[in-house]
Amino acid sequence: MRIALIKGDGIGPEVINQAVKVLEAVSERFGCGFEYQEVLMGGRAIDETGVPLPAETVDICKKSDAVLLGAVGGPKWDGLAGSLRPEAGLLGIRKALDVFANLRPAVIFPQLKSASTLKEEVLGDGLDIMVVRELTGGAYFGEKKRVDTGHGIKAWDMMVYTSLEIERIARKAFSIAGKRRKKVTIVDKANVLESSRLWREVTGEVSKAYSDVETAYMYVDNAAMQLVRNPGQFDVILTENLFGDILSDEASMLTGSLGMLPSASIGESGVGIFEPIHGSAPDIAGKDIANPLAAILSCGMMLKYGFNMEKEADAVFKAVNSVLDNGYRTVDIMQRGMITVGTEKMGSLVADSMRHNREGMK
Ligand code: IPM
Ligand code: MG
Repeated sequence: MRIALIKGDGIGPEVINQAVKVLEAVSERFGCGFEYQEVLMGGRAIDETGVPLPAETVDICKKSDAVLLGAVGGPKWDGLAGSLRPEAGLLGIRKALDVFANLRPAVIFPQLKSASTLKEEVLGDGLDIMVVRELTGGAYFGEKKRVDTGHGIKAWDMMVYTSLEIERIARKAFSIAGKRRKKVTIVDKANVLESSRLWREVTGEVSKAYSDVETAYMYVDNAAMQLVRNPGQFDVILTENLFGDILSDEASMLTGSLGMLPSASIGESGVGIFEPIHGSAPDIAGKDIANPLAAILSCGMMLKYGFNMEKEADAVFKAVNSVLDNGYRTVDIMQRGMITVGTEKMGSLVADSMRHNREGMK
């Protein structure tokens, strides 16, 4: 399997190096071979080539089997015009690879339950939500414009969806729900937005093919509230790009640990992008304190959703659990009585656990 590595900016390179360490351990244990090729995107690409997404990067990513991404951006590039910012590189590569389905699981690790901002009784038995966010449409990619009207400036970003775009993401969400707790909550603003009303029509049609999956509709303002009131009611949340951006941050924080959460961006087939949910955290870059577990778990999602390697993916998840069970924590998830370790050490612990197949050991 050929993996394009976009290490990115800030803590990106540190966490991706640990992820690669773990992939090497997976390779040793299961006898799969991974090849890596580093490519530039984001701030570093701007510094070295003048643009956030060089054509060569797109080319190499398209020829790879998956893209593993750290994080991009930082204050250094904040003053640039919209189309030249590191974030434009990220949107560009999503569009170029047509990865329209962004899967963002918000799962509480039982070992870290006390880190959640929610009370234990609100969390109930834990939290296991899959946010399925549409990633290549909506206001992010609709017409954007700014005009001087002569009496003030006018700007707009059009939230545009076609029925085909909605249909393909809906199929993904329903088939994922079919393998989980069999409920899809479609989040929209159908009381106000025409695009949301189209979402309701199309998802309603798609849902008929998945009769074992329960379908619910919820307005986005209510969903934001329900997530902190009663998160246990959600299984799969399906929503458009901008709402998904906002709700996935909210859902992830309920787990108490942004440093633990991976994501997968996939299309119909082809090359997926796998990346931690957290950003580039420039304030802690280079200090060996960043939590590499989100990047490592993103490799787990790459194995599962990118390569169909369920067994290997499961081993990554178990290795992470075993290291947590043994009491090792990076500072962001530190709890009393546990052992603090840095980025490098955390990566090595997971890789060792993978090699020695010691999951479950106390
Ligand atoms: C995310 C990020 C990006 C987005 C930014 C960095 C462009 O917030 O992946 O959620 O809005 O999609
Ligand atoms: Mg976001």
